[in-house]
Amino acid sequence: MRALAASLCLIFLPVPGAAQEFSTLKGHGGPIMDINVNPETGQVATASFDNSVGLWKGRSPIWLEGHEAAVNSVLFLGKDILLSGGDDFRVLLWSPTLSKPSEIAVHRGKVTNVAIFEHGREIASASWDGTIEHRSVIDPLGTSETKDPIHFKSTTLTGHDAGVNAIVFSGAGELYSASTDGTIRHWQIGLKETKSRVIVSHGFGINELVLNDKEGWLAYGSVDGMTRVIAPETGDTLADFTLERRPILSMAYHDATSQLAVGDGHGYIMMIDTATWQITRDFRAMLRGPVWALDFSPDGKTIYAGGLEDVAYSWPVALLDGYEPVDGPTRSFLRNPEDMPNGERQFMRKCSICHALTPPPSRKAGPSLYNLFGRRAGTVPDYPYSDILSGSDIIWSDDSIDALFDLGPDHYIPGSKMPMQRITAAQDRQDLIGFLRIATGEKEN
Ligand code: HEC
Repeated sequence: MRALAASLCLIFLPVPGAAQEFSTLKGHGGPIMDINVNPETGQVATASFDNSVGLWKGRSPIWLEGHEAAVNSVLFLGKDILLSGGDDFRVLLWSPTLSKPSEIAVHRGKVTNVAIFEHGREIASASWDGTIEHRSVIDPLGTSETKDPIHFKSTTLTGHDAGVNAIVFSGAGELYSASTDGTIRHWQIGLKETKSRVIVSHGFGINELVLNDKEGWLAYGSVDGMTRVIAPETGDTLADFTLERRPILSMAYHDATSQLAVGDGHGYIMMIDTATWQITRDFRAMLRGPVWALDFSPDGKTIYAGGLEDVAYSWPVALLDGYEPVDGPTRSFLRNPEDMPNGERQFMRKCSICHALTPPPSRKAGPSLYNLFGRRAGTVPDYPYSDILSGSDIIWSDDSIDALFDLGPDHYIPGSKMPMQRITAAQDRQDLIGFLRIATGEKEN
């Protein structure tokens, strides 16, 4: 009876990860770019295309708002303390003791990955500007009087010929980095001098890195679909798990259970036992779209994943083979565009990932377009518009929307945050406007 009571408890426990069953974290307004699970507490953090970081208390999110574009990478430093990097080129540190996030680094391109050493006393960030920023930080957890993480040493690591996609610290505080230039570099960051050398020249861009320096291996995943394990010292290949799928987009490692998880562009999660170097599972997690985000629960029994949908999923690893791929309630931007009239197709392909048509608030990156026609630009309540749009006297109409996409937002409202290019065909613009006229109207229930 006690056993039964205990298992019932498990089922109803609202904490994902604690329950050994499939679960979802819902609330983001765009795709999930990264997931990190606090190895001590099991708390989950998500980074999203909707510009926010989700800090989950069970299944309820706390939204950390501060990035001005999609967030690509998130990492726990301690309880409720997070580091994040985004398309706004910034690396931010979030802590309940700070009134606003602390800006740790600013790059000249989007930030793809963040890493920490010694609980955040060293912080590194990788960027498509081709550099890695390295910071030594006093009191990253904000426990002292000043309650403000102070960086006393900043180093910019240059050497890659293209964007840097992934970085990891070794147990000795050295760095490994992987780049679109097709190489992996090893960095020794000294007080006076920083040394770096190429340990792998793969040819194709490398997206992901996992290091186990105790056991002496470094795993990487590349654009051309390679999953390869090498000796970090020599670059020699130890094992190769390349399947027919590409690109490799995410990796996670759980040390105590020796599990390496690899997510790819076809929606699969491959599990490798690193004690025997065998593929133990190859699971189709997402029916549509890539696996961008992956992490394990602290006990290694649950795996979290995210991708094109605005939901983070988790599965019990032991039962993975028993699940069908997730195919959530069909999201607007995932419906088959071939079946739609042209105006709707234009919207679904080019706008729906950032704009809702339902009454605000919306968690998407752009303001809701509900009741758009006749509305003055920049007036959706509580939406953080750029100055140019909130101060604008444009009234949205057939003509102004046509001009917006004929000229392109960068010309029609220069300085706007909307990264949309032009829609060159007049017929496409007309069809889009026709669709918006109907779809943004007040709906009768
Ligand atoms: C990658 C995200 C993104 C995409 C894609 C996008 N937008 Fe936007 N849009 C934004 C953002 C962000 C803003 C707010 C801009 C600002 O504050 O400067 C915006 C603002 C707007 C506005 C002004 C709204 C207002 O309240 O004043 C309109 C109209 C608009 N977008 C229409 C569209 C349409 C139509 C498409 C597709 C053809 C589209 N957008 C595609 C992000 C996007």
